[in-house]
Amino acid sequence: MSTPTTGPDGLEGRDPRTVAVLGAGTMGSGIAVVMARALHRTILFDVDEANLQRGLDTVHGFFDKSVERGKLTAPLAAAAKASLVGTTDLADLAASDVVVEAVYEDLALKKELFGALDDLVPDTTLFHTNTSTLSVTGIASGSRLPERVVGTHYCNPAPLMKLVEVADGRHTASWARAATIDFLESLGKTTVVTKDRPGFIVNRFLIPWENSCIRALESGLGTKESIDAAVLGALGHPMGPFRLLDIVGMDIHQQVATRLYEQLRDPRFFPPPMVERMVAAGDLGRKTGRGFYDYDDTRLFGS
Ligand SMILES: NC(=O)c1ccc[n+]([C@@H]2O[C@H](COP(=O)([O-])OP(=O)(O)OC[C@H]3O[C@@H](n4cnc5c(N)ncnc54)[C@H](O)[C@@H]3O)[C@@H](O)[C@H]2O)c1
Repeated sequence: MSTPTTGPDGLEGRDPRTVAVLGAGTMGSGIAVVMARALHRTILFDVDEANLQRGLDTVHGFFDKSVERGKLTAPLAAAAKASLVGTTDLADLAASDVVVEAVYEDLALKKELFGALDDLVPDTTLFHTNTSTLSVTGIASGSRLPERVVGTHYCNPAPLMKLVEVADGRHTASWARAATIDFLESLGKTTVVTKDRPGFIVNRFLIPWENSCIRALESGLGTKESIDAAVLGALGHPMGPFRLLDIVGMDIHQQVATRLYEQLRDPRFFPPPMVERMVAAGDLGRKTGRGFYDYDDTRLFGS
């Protein structure tokens, strides 16, 4: 792992922390943008070398585009890039003050990672999980210190969406939740406290709505372009449902929708047939270059 460098004068003094982001997929790379942009020493960790590289490329591409569009100054983008390193070696995360977990939605995997990190990092390190459908309490049971584990559910794309849902597990300590909210707000995020329940608040509304947009497309009510345009023009969303689903990933949508259906038994959560066909075809969205739309690069999101 290369040593993180510091930014130019004038960009310091923001109480930089060492933040480990586990998983360099759609959410992990988005969360790494958020951390590096705030000039925290950010370590992006993945077990898969190719996924790690794509995540790092996505983060760098995001900062380059932000400069092109005048949203970030060149020195700040350079400092943000310099704040980020990637690794496939868990031992490199030993100095972490905050760990943000964004690996596959697999309870055993998330528990195992937190258990392994217990032996590496200080007892004061906060453990955040970005799970969409699993129980925070269940994930926290993988740590010998479940009081330090907090659910932090970022909205996708994480660098652009301000909201983060915060959910305690059964044993989360009030100090851990308070420190988590302070930290998220210092990143410019807006927090909403919710319960450790399937889908938290956002996915209780988002998943049935996305499914209904897919059903509208299946039924021929509109094209992907006209439905996206209608949502943009009339509902005030930052992007249409099919552009969003291409960033989310159809595999992830299928998994989240199915898991919420299994837990809530509400048919509005069940993914429509088009989802299974797109997953079977490998048309997962931006990550495979084709979803509802075609993409000429496989960066996971743009600025
Ligand atoms: N995609 C979304 O819109 C969205 C939104 C909010 C929350 N989430 C949640 O965020 C998490 C990640 O979702 P995603 O869409 O980024 O998934 P993804 O499939 O894009 O990325 C997951 C990454 O985890 C890596 N990984 C797997 N095992 C690992 C391990 N042991 N250690 C380190 N890395 C490992 C994979 O190599 C992959 O790069 C999931 O829990 C998901 O439910 C997803």
